[in-house]
Amino acid sequence: MRRVVKFAGIGLAAGLIVLQFFQPEKNMEPVDPAEDLLMLTSPPAHVTGLIETACYDCHSNQTIYPWYSRISPVSWFMQKHIQEGKEELNASDYGSMDQADKIGFLVDFCEVVDAGTMPLVSYSLIHKEAQLSQEDKEAICNWSEEEALKVMRE
Ligand code: HEC
Repeated sequence: MRRVVKFAGIGLAAGLIVLQFFQPEKNMEPVDPAEDLLMLTSPPAHVTGLIETACYDCHSNQTIYPWYSRISPVSWFMQKHIQEGKEELNASDYGSMDQADKIGFLVDFCEVVDAGTMPLVSYSLIHKEAQLSQEDKEAICNWSEEEALKVMRE
């Protein structure tokens, strides 16, 4: 029995090592400052920091990869979230959206933060700095609502 466990352990370790050779493509495209949400709208520094930390890994073209996110299979989970997150909304493309999409973007932004559905729980459990306090949520919402009103007046 002990031998079986030992071999199973070796098999698993070998499998994990082999898995490291299969890595998803990184989400690190050059960012055009003329298109990027934070560049274009320049929120207060505090809010910019919160959005970069809590949202940009999955909703922009620039993910910051900590060491553990480069380990397979974690890297594949991350890749899937980034892909789905960017399909929903990509802050790196904000500049090329039309007025209605920009307003929708900003309204949704506040909505998910206020409801606590974003950032994803699986993410904020690991990235403690991405956990938003009540004040953080209010700061993000105040900014995005103000910005939405600005876009409406354009
Ligand atoms: C770990 C990756 C990840 C992070 C970090 C993240 N998101 Fe998302 N987001 C997703 C994924 C995946 C989806 C699509 C699936 C879903 O809705 O759960 C999504 C969907 C959304 C949607 C559209 C769907 C809806 O529920 O209305 C909005 C808006 C959104 N995210 C905003 C944000 C904001 C704002 C932040 C930062 C406070 C954030 N996200 C952080 C991965 C992420």
